[in-house]
Amino acid sequence: MISTIHSMGINGIEAFQVNIESDISQGMPACDVVGLPDTSVKEAKNRVRSAIKSCGFTFPLARITINLAPADVRKIGSTYDLPILLSILMSSGQLPAIPENSVFVGEISLSGNIVPINGVLPMTIQAKQLGFVNIFVPAKNAAEAASIEGINVYPVNNVRELADYIKGELEIKRKELTIIKKKPKETLLDFSQVKGQYDVKRALEIAAAGNHNVLLIGSPGSGKSMLAKRLPSILPEMTFDEIIETTKIHSISGIIDNEYPLITERPYRAPHHTISSAGLSGGGSVPTPGEISLAHNGILFLDELLEFSRSSLETLRQPLEEGKITISRVKGSLTYPCSIMLIAAMNPCPCGYYGHPTKACTCSAGTISRYLRKISGPLLDRMDLHIEVPPVDFESLSSKIEPESSSEIRKRVNKAREIQIERYKNSSVKCNAHLPSHLVSEACSATDEAKKMLKIAFDSMKLSARGYDKILKIARTIADLDGSKEVAAAHIAEAIQYRSLDRKYWNRF
Ligand SMILES: Nc1ncnc2c1ncn2[C@@H]1O[C@H](COP(=O)(O)OP(=O)(O)O)[C@@H](O)[C@H]1O
Ligand SMILES: [Mg+2]
Repeated sequence: MISTIHSMGINGIEAFQVNIESDISQGMPACDVVGLPDTSVKEAKNRVRSAIKSCGFTFPLARITINLAPADVRKIGSTYDLPILLSILMSSGQLPAIPENSVFVGEISLSGNIVPINGVLPMTIQAKQLGFVNIFVPAKNAAEAASIEGINVYPVNNVRELADYIKGELEIKRKELTIIKKKPKETLLDFSQVKGQYDVKRALEIAAAGNHNVLLIGSPGSGKSMLAKRLPSILPEMTFDEIIETTKIHSISGIIDNEYPLITERPYRAPHHTISSAGLSGGGSVPTPGEISLAHNGILFLDELLEFSRSSLETLRQPLEEGKITISRVKGSLTYPCSIMLIAAMNPCPCGYYGHPTKACTCSAGTISRYLRKISGPLLDRMDLHIEVPPVDFESLSSKIEPESSSEIRKRVNKAREIQIERYKNSSVKCNAHLPSHLVSEACSATDEAKKMLKIAFDSMKLSARGYDKILKIARTIADLDGSKEVAAAHIAEAIQYRSLDRKYWNRF
């Protein structure tokens, strides 16, 4: 008898249906898994054999063929343990027929316990879309799966329990719909702790409001890391679609918190500069999303930017532009989304004091030029706001006046983001930074005075088309913070300031 069990596999961040069939026929005892299984899937038969015995069933002494369909897609991971086991028990008559409307996913331990797996969220979404009524998942993944409405999620702890349920001898309670709850903040990082630095804070507020990339340049101790670490506290609220998209990536990476299965705060990823290209952008022998994708809809912070290897920085160029990264494999390619806000911090020169108001820089012009050239022109071009962080002055540092708190700043950021969501509601654009160039002139309509100022800047700064668009987009965000429908001259003037540092540092030599 051949019996089929439905399951799910993962490709990129999407799930696809996999049907598992097993055929038991007379012959020399053997067990073959066919249908492009990876080594990790082939190992399933050993786990399944032990689990079947541990749970009081018998592993058929016959010729068993297990087929994973569709046969042309590579199957990776331990997700298929549970459906393979059920299929063998059903084919050998040890379990009654299993309803066609159900999906089973889960890894099995040798003793028959059902172990959590990665990617349950996209699997549940896909199962629902394909019209399945029930999904059986490892108990520890149930909260994650149950965040999707419209499909019954059954948590299972071990094979014995599931077998009794299928035989109708035991009830398994459906997991109730997960209520979105916010994880309490672990850190108490707040902009009120940063004294002075009003210009930098203003620039970061603009960045957060329009999702613009930022490059912070300043001498050691000027507070670059301190400021960047506080940026998550002023980011706009995530929309439900953003929550699901980001959680999908964290789900396939296996870094979901059971208690707070949905990612409700924009991610903040700050990898160390020793990270490999694959770690940063994704890939590896078993492909996994990189830091840039884990930061999807949030922040990727690269502190000490020039310490990162040039090759890993260069791999960021295209994904930054496209909001997704494609990893080519021998068997097809994978795409992970990575719509992020990049924050980078660096010293202006090797000794760190070039441009410092009081300390003398000991670097030669040649050394500085070589140092700055580590960041390529195209990557520099992708940094929307260039912000110089001066050392904090004594008056600000010793002042008793409490600076504005993050929650105050965040209110303005949220308001500006709402204006953008409303403006772009009929398109796939969510924020000013991601405005495609063909929409820039329409979305950023400017007053005559503003247009004049932009023309002067275009000529005198010898702007590229990309530079021109960037200034308009930043000015649009400043206008949104201002609650202004049109981009005015003052908005353009402020936006231009954030595009002039590359001239000071990079074109000087
Ligand atoms: N504006 C500021 N207000 C309060 N403390 C500051 C400020 N700037 C710097 N500091 C102090 O100096 C320390 C060093 O700052 P840091 O962010 O590490 O500098 P950088 O990354 O630019 O080298 C911070 O941890 C903080 O204690
Ligand atoms: Mg630092």
